[in-house]
Amino acid sequence: MVTLTIDGRKVTVPEGTTILHAAEALGIEIPHLCYCPGLEGTGACRLCVVEVEKVRGLVVACMRRVAEGMVVHTNTPRVREARKFVLELLLSRHPGLCLSCDKSGSCKLQQYAYELGIKRPFFEVRDPGYEVKEDLFIVRDYNLCILCGRCIRVCRTQGADILDFMKRGIETRVGTPLDRSLLESGCDFCGSCVSVCPTGALMEKERLGKGREWELEKVHSRCSYCGAACGLNYHLRKGEIVKVSSPEPVAYLCARGRFGYGYLQSGERLTTPLVRRDGELVPADWDEALSLVAENFQQAIERYGAEGVGGILSPLVSCETAYSFQKFFRSGLRTNNVDCSLRIGAGLELLRHADAVTGGPEGYAGWKDVLEANVILLVGDVCQRVPAVWGYLKRAVGRGAKLIYLGFYKDRPARLAQVWLQALPGEEPLVLARLAWLILQNPTYRTLAERVPNFTSFAEGVERLARVEVSVPEEDLARAAELWSEEARGVLLLPVDGVSPATGKAALNLLLLTGRREKALFPTSAFVNAQGVWRLGGVAEFFPGLRPAPEAASEFAAFWGRVPNGTPGLNLTAMLRPGSPVKALYLLGEDPLSSYPGNGSIAAKLEELDFLVVQDLTLTKTAEKAHVVLPLASLPETGGTVIATHGEKHHLSSALSPRTLMPWQVFALLAAKMNLELNLSAQELLLNEIKAVTPEFGLVPAERRPGFWELGEVGPGRGDSQLKLTTLAFYPSFYRQDWLKLSGLEVLLPYEGNFIALSPEEGLEEGAVVEVSTPHGTFTTRVRLDKALPRGVAAVPAFSSAAAALFPLETPWEPVPASIARA
Ligand code: SF4
Ligand code: SF4
Ligand code: SF4
Ligand code: FES
Repeated sequence: MVTLTIDGRKVTVPEGTTILHAAEALGIEIPHLCYCPGLEGTGACRLCVVEVEKVRGLVVACMRRVAEGMVVHTNTPRVREARKFVLELLLSRHPGLCLSCDKSGSCKLQQYAYELGIKRPFFEVRDPGYEVKEDLFIVRDYNLCILCGRCIRVCRTQGADILDFMKRGIETRVGTPLDRSLLESGCDFCGSCVSVCPTGALMEKERLGKGREWELEKVHSRCSYCGAACGLNYHLRKGEIVKVSSPEPVAYLCARGRFGYGYLQSGERLTTPLVRRDGELVPADWDEALSLVAENFQQAIERYGAEGVGGILSPLVSCETAYSFQKFFRSGLRTNNVDCSLRIGAGLELLRHADAVTGGPEGYAGWKDVLEANVILLVGDVCQRVPAVWGYLKRAVGRGAKLIYLGFYKDRPARLAQVWLQALPGEEPLVLARLAWLILQNPTYRTLAERVPNFTSFAEGVERLARVEVSVPEEDLARAAELWSEEARGVLLLPVDGVSPATGKAALNLLLLTGRREKALFPTSAFVNAQGVWRLGGVAEFFPGLRPAPEAASEFAAFWGRVPNGTPGLNLTAMLRPGSPVKALYLLGEDPLSSYPGNGSIAAKLEELDFLVVQDLTLTKTAEKAHVVLPLASLPETGGTVIATHGEKHHLSSALSPRTLMPWQVFALLAAKMNLELNLSAQELLLNEIKAVTPEFGLVPAERRPGFWELGEVGPGRGDSQLKLTTLAFYPSFYRQDWLKLSGLEVLLPYEGNFIALSPEEGLEEGAVVEVSTPHGTFTTRVRLDKALPRGVAAVPAFSSAAAALFPLETPWEPVPASIARA
């Protein structure tokens, strides 16, 4: 530690701290423009100069490290004069547009000019006369640029690295390669550059002309588009969102979080219930709509028993909404037929396994662990599913972490990785088994592993699978095994709902093999509240707090009075299978006909139903088939608790005025119509009830599974010559396909997010209309040529109508053989 004096006050800070940060620790703000918290300093603007005793010239506070006994003065006449000079120079090429600039009120240049009392610039003001560039979502007016370089550094640190200084001397300005548009330059529209720009040079396009900064109300919330649940602020004018910002300038938000808020205020949002009359859905009041739901569910129970009704909810709702929904079914309707779409894919299974490795969410790795890791194993399309991972990954690699990327898609992680294990779809578990086999050749690890239960069968399995030939070169496997076993702090980034169970288990085995249980697993999911929903009773086999259903019913009798009968619940797959006992179904925030694989057979099941009620934000494809459609309040409207996939719990206030009733109000009204006493009246009461039922909020410690997982039979390795079709989460596609359009981001993905991506080597041309056939269905779509795909592999966007038609509900992770013909 180092002790120094700043403006007459003593402060002790860690060695290596800059003067600027040491002053901050005392609450002294030293003006700064080129320095931005979270980015490396460059000392370019010299606004932060201070006087240091016994040092002749002025010292740049954002670069100079503290020294023992240093005496610093931050606000002397000499310092103020120097700062004034810097600002005068900057203002000389900054046209004085403060009167109409949208940044006015939050512009750093304006703030410091005011603080230093600059009334009229000393130097003549020259308008650089640059053309204002209007890109998608971002407007660049380099006339207002002060060349601080923040945007360049942030784009390099966590963006697409497409910005740099161009030209020299007086003509210097910021630009993209060949001065192309952001879209053409490969920008991913994270908006980080806008976030760090201290002036009005970079602005959100939608925000322009929508009010001065001080007229906007800022409310904190969380993004609901994926399991990272990134923090964000909505900036509202008269209740409408005019922009979204990150809580800290460099805190990462992807295009979905920063610019994709259009769905919240889309004109297509449902605000009135609809009921089917003479075959048509027509507007109705809540009383009529809920009476119909109550009557039909009552009739289904009378006719078929409690097994005749069921509910499927979205993992995108708050814990309170999920809890009240499952309580309505379990306690109200006395059935355990309640489930969520985390069931599709291996998400639920792998989250349980994740707990078994780490001992529960407390043991998960957080963002800090990712940033501090020495080696990171990234499996699959995590960066496309959870784009925040890209921002952190880039930073971690920038700090020296070694990246091992396992995946067939040559996107940015492949370029960032020390080792890219380019397995073909389906080969991933084989490659991971091969890594385990290589690590086991090290006597130290073998001795450690021999102590783990289940070692013998694990080692036999690994031996067997490691013999199957895979596409990854042996030297890459050897290098990856060496990095993973020898580097100290390792983190596995695993998309639990984006890999097969075998891939997930094989990856978790690698953690066990190298003795990494705590703070070494960072699970990700496409769903913002996958964790909260399953932990609070939103899946068939668990009551809230992960107590097994139906066995724990008696425990819940103490809380609820009335509990389900003793029959195990049907899960989503079983409920949606044609011929299932469910005859009246409630879908909350789910659109299976558009986004569930196997939608052909789901359509057949929906036809069989006596009654279907859909509660959603808009009139979806599935809602169009319903007997009653109810409007749904979005997560920023309901607020409530969400648990990010890596285990962080967040309580959100209601950031936006609800456009409709809160979900629990709907269930309460419904319960009242069915003469059920369920106490679902208010969010605060629900919160208290959840805390009484599960004080840990479902984040219960898990029993550690001591042994390795067996992988069983794993699909073929190399050698299968048929075209393999798989799914990929093409950024910025959403869990719900209709959201791409509603969010306003459809310009970033061609063909409205429905296409088949193919290597140009397959001989088809961009945009060709083709009929794709797999053993599970046929779909007509367009070709998107994608050089990042290897020959012989095709991909359709995960959660798209194409994926829904071409993959089965039960095993959507398996690549399927496909044939393609021109339509
Ligand atoms: S939006 Fe992101 S990727 Fe695009 S230029 Fe800005 S920082 Fe770079
Ligand atoms: S555009 Fe903004 S952030 Fe980039 S150099 Fe100019 S003033 Fe700095
Ligand atoms: S990474 Fe996920 S949570 Fe973060 S801004 Fe993007 S979509 Fe939202
Ligand atoms: S903020 Fe220190 S030199 Fe610019």
